[in-house]
Amino acid sequence: MVVSALLASIVPPEVVAAEAFGDECDGAPLFPAEEAAIAGAAPKRRREFAAVRACARRALASAGFDAAPVPRAPSGAPVWPPGVVGSMTHCEGYRACTIGRTEAFSAIGIDAEPHDLLPDGVLPMVASEPERAALAGLAAAAPGLCWDRILFSAKESVYKAWFPATGRWLGFTDAELTLHPSGTFAARLLVPGRWTVRHGLIATAVVVPAAGEAAAGAAAARTAASPPPAPAPPLSCP
Ligand SMILES: CC(C)(COP(=O)(O)OP(=O)(O)OC[C@H]1O[C@@H](n2cnc3c(N)ncnc32)[C@H](O)[C@@H]1OP(=O)(O)O)[C@@H](O)C(=O)NCCC(=O)NCCS
Repeated sequence: MVVSALLASIVPPEVVAAEAFGDECDGAPLFPAEEAAIAGAAPKRRREFAAVRACARRALASAGFDAAPVPRAPSGAPVWPPGVVGSMTHCEGYRACTIGRTEAFSAIGIDAEPHDLLPDGVLPMVASEPERAALAGLAAAAPGLCWDRILFSAKESVYKAWFPATGRWLGFTDAELTLHPSGTFAARLLVPGRWTVRHGLIATAVVVPAAGEAAAGAAAARTAASPPPAPAPPLSCP
């Protein structure tokens, strides 16, 4: 069967994609650092881990990099050789890796899922009410597509770009996505911020605490010691 490119068709040309549509890469050899990362895993998990790393080798070679291990950080995120940013995904019948150069890209996130409806009960856990309402509109505009799973996959690719760039968790309800039938989507991060208007000036601030427990503890201590927020400012324009 001839299968056309999937992820390679939706990333910019400067991003190198390597894909496998069958199980041909499942027994691919691993570097010792990768062997250590997958030690004791079940055979199915080992096959997808090895296959997607075979894709990573192909992508690295096409981009002019030497073959190198791509082990996992404790978070699960892939650890790329210096100068490389990338992302990997695997699901039944498909494995893919996309990489770019760090001079050109800060983060890449990809995800693939079977084109099927999400299992019962999952959608309310991963989509806000406005997102669920939008899915109904999309289903009416473009029937025959599993919009709920497309939304889920898009959120996972957002996370895979977000986490390595920030080192921070992002829950399914921490981003609001807008899918377009044209094959694009936009993600709005629901990061808390504050604004004030005083002395003829507008000031706004977004502060993202550092990842990690020590930093979270320090931030909590500062919050406890800080004075209560100022009273609400006047809202009229001059
Ligand atoms: C990590 C996660 C995104 C993986 O997605 P998945 O559909 O289960 O699995 P996929 O096969 O598509 O991807 C697995 C690959 O993701 C990559 N990955 C795992 N954790 C990662 C992380 N923290 N950051 C970036 N990439 C990660 C790895 O390369 C992994 O492959 P490997 O284990 O063989 O190295 C998912 O399990 C998860 O935890 N999701 C919750 C967070 C989220 O999606 N939030 C939505 C925010 S809007």
